Amino acid sequence: MNKLIINDLELNGKHVLMRVDFNVPLDENLNVLDDTRIRKVLPTIEYILSKGASLTLLSHLGRPKGSVITEMSLKTVAEHLSRLLMKPVDFVSDCIGPETVDKNAKLIPGQVLLLENLRFHKEETENDSEFAEILAKFGDVYVNDAFGTAHRAHASTEGVTRFFDLCAAGFLMEKEINYLTNAVENPNRPLAAIIGGAKISGKIDAIQNLLAKVDVLLIGGGMAFTFFKALRYEIGNSILEEDRIEIAKDILRQTEKEGRDLVLPIDVLTTDHLDNTSNLQIMNANSMTPEIIGVDIGPGSIALFREKLVNVKTVVWNGPMGIFEQPEFAKGTFEIAKILSTLTKKGALTIVGGGDSVAAINQCGFQDSITHISTGGGASLELLSGYELPGLAALTDKRN
Ligand code: 3PG
Repeated sequence: MNKLIINDLELNGKHVLMRVDFNVPLDENLNVLDDTRIRKVLPTIEYILSKGASLTLLSHLGRPKGSVITEMSLKTVAEHLSRLLMKPVDFVSDCIGPETVDKNAKLIPGQVLLLENLRFHKEETENDSEFAEILAKFGDVYVNDAFGTAHRAHASTEGVTRFFDLCAAGFLMEKEINYLTNAVENPNRPLAAIIGGAKISGKIDAIQNLLAKVDVLLIGGGMAFTFFKALRYEIGNSILEEDRIEIAKDILRQTEKEGRDLVLPIDVLTTDHLDNTSNLQIMNANSMTPEIIGVDIGPGSIALFREKLVNVKTVVWNGPMGIFEQPEFAKGTFEIAKILSTLTKKGALTIVGGGDSVAAINQCGFQDSITHISTGGGASLELLSGYELPGLAALTDKRN
């Protein structure tokens, strides 16, 4: 990575302004349900404090669209962070304004302050320059460790960098970029990608970019039905994106022309109604009947995918194989999680991104046997699509 990293900076006595992605799920009492994203930035936070700097943290939570929504407050996140750090974390109930300015000015080395949800001000997502300049006054060095938000050109990720001489990546950002970029650009081969999820629409660019780079691309999940339709298969009432059939045809044509290995499921678990689990049937992908709904890949596909993956040295997975939230429809997704866990033990590099596939890995308890679980859903997908991330591009280049 050719960007400044936090350990390239002299931090003693400095006031660091750091963007983090504390967009975490909260329960009905507003307690943090999954603190993975908070724990993953602890090394950067602890490093900054150990170097004798003070630290102001910026984050968003949810999509409040410029309104103050109590359920999207970061207050309990500050309390949670304080418990993890085992030291006080101060919180201020607005990310700008006189109280915030005052608390910032009083921060001394070793102290941490978290500002309220940036998106309570619409200027954040509008990348408003004046708003960015106000935020920039809260530190003399800027660090971005919010990989999950690096695909957004917002005031706190992109605009703010124009007001600093030095803008560096945190350790989490560095790790995410290195894993995801190297996996695709400089992999230990064979390289496989597994792309699933309900819809093809958000993943077309990733599929096209990956097809040119991987040795094998496996497709599962709801999006497979749009490919089946492109092949003129009967898909019954399964999920279909009509307006993506042509692009699916293009992808299949391109694959054939270039001799790429794109693998679709060969069989499907079907039901007659999404809430009926008593009438499940396995059908061949090319002989489904009109009244069915496909809900998972079938056993033949699992075996085929396992065979395709057996010798890979690098694998990237984004998106479930079926409606895994329903236990009866979860086998395909969980089997992929198991295959990846086995591959890691055999020395392969395994990378999982995207909220649903990460949730599936966690549900199976395989989180410790995956090489890298990304904290970014949209951001990891954009990297896999070959796009530049604005939050990363805006950081200071490393001088050789
Ligand atoms: C995420 O959860 O993917 C990031 O926090 C970005 O959130 P956003 O999609 O609301 O910008």
